[in-house]
Amino acid sequence: MNNFIFENSTKVFFGKGCVKEFLAGTLKEYGRSVMLAYGGNAIKNNGVYDEVKAILMDEGKTVIEFSGIMSNPTYNKVMEGAALARENHVDVILAVGGGSVMDCCKAVSLAAAYDGDIWRDYWEKNGIIDFEPLPLGVIVTVTGTGSECNGGAVITNEEKKVKTGRDYPKCNPKFALMDPEYTFSVPKKQTASGGFDILSHIMETYFSKTDDDNISDDISEALMRSVIRNLPAALENPQDYTARSNLMWAATMAENRIIKLGKACDFQAHQIEHQLGAYTNCNHGCGLAVIHPAYYRYIYQDGLDKFVRFAVHVWGIPSEGKSADEVALEGIRALENFIKAIGLPSTLRELGVTDADILPEIAASCNIAPGSYGNMTKEAILEILNLCL
Ligand code: NZQ
Ligand code: ZN
Repeated sequence: MNNFIFENSTKVFFGKGCVKEFLAGTLKEYGRSVMLAYGGNAIKNNGVYDEVKAILMDEGKTVIEFSGIMSNPTYNKVMEGAALARENHVDVILAVGGGSVMDCCKAVSLAAAYDGDIWRDYWEKNGIIDFEPLPLGVIVTVTGTGSECNGGAVITNEEKKVKTGRDYPKCNPKFALMDPEYTFSVPKKQTASGGFDILSHIMETYFSKTDDDNISDDISEALMRSVIRNLPAALENPQDYTARSNLMWAATMAENRIIKLGKACDFQAHQIEHQLGAYTNCNHGCGLAVIHPAYYRYIYQDGLDKFVRFAVHVWGIPSEGKSADEVALEGIRALENFIKAIGLPSTLRELGVTDADILPEIAASCNIAPGSYGNMTKEAILEILNLCL
């Protein structure tokens, strides 16, 4: 196991009714001016907006709305939010939504409290945050990224054609309210892509160095089995509280740093998806679904024992009488079948990417993840992308 320092400062309130029970009391710790941040109409259609707004009004808060945060949030949107927060002397940001809203608001919380250029100083490189960002609280309405319990924020700089994430502990939300019932209204496609994102975070951690006996891999196997059971159940019945709860907490567990302790975790498939997203604005989980099987076929021999373990422990594939190669490939095939069964795309074409000419640029702009298996190169990434076509 590699050395590590562990810190997670987010206070979590989980379960049915938690917003009604705890939001008002939690906000008493902050000033009067609340920036209510969200995406499009989803939270207006499912009643969450009305519920939250009523609590804020009852508490006598001044509410500044920051809406229209798009999927794959842009740096321009971050700057819009930061200007709004400054002009209105916002005391606390309340982000209501999924990864896009939460990530955008983490960057806003930094930008509103910083005089320089946050892209240059904190996204192009890892910077040191020696000031206090605006406090941020989140209400999760769609499950997947796990952004609620980490300092990670993935932002797209459209001018530079770069989508990149940084994880700063100082950007951890102060609190996260997580009511699984808020996710009942999430459409099937987003449920599947968010669910696959959870699985991807766990797999990227599991298939990362080091590979000595470690607690992370054991926990990860249990988490993966849970997602594989609960995701089809949530798709079958969107109001299955047990399935929605397990998915919501699995998403947090995958990204609250616990399973990453002692592992490299530089997430090669995510690095590829982020650049695919920067060029095509594709849905994050759908992009990952296309990339994973081709990427794993490419690298599995460099982590053969682990891929065998994945097949046996996660997918229940019998190994007797088979070569390691056969078992590993059966595990990857099981993953591929799962992707199809939950209705996610398997090729770039299905994702709407038909222009092969953009693939060399995407490959050339991807980060290489040395902690992942295989000695990845930009040429290898291009081969993988071509296999995905
Ligand atoms: O736009 P609205 O109307 O709000 O609709 C949203 C959006 O269309 C909808 N939605 C949200 N709550 C809903 C709902 N629909 C019905 N009922 C509800 N209760 O869901 C759609 C997708 O939302 P979005 O926030 O974009 O999805 P997700 O949570 O998958 O976030 C994706 C972003 O997070 C980044 C991704 O790259 C992408 O930019 N990631 C962030 C990470 C992190 N901070 O740790 C890690 C991830 O690997 C990922 O890269
Ligand atoms: Zn992800």
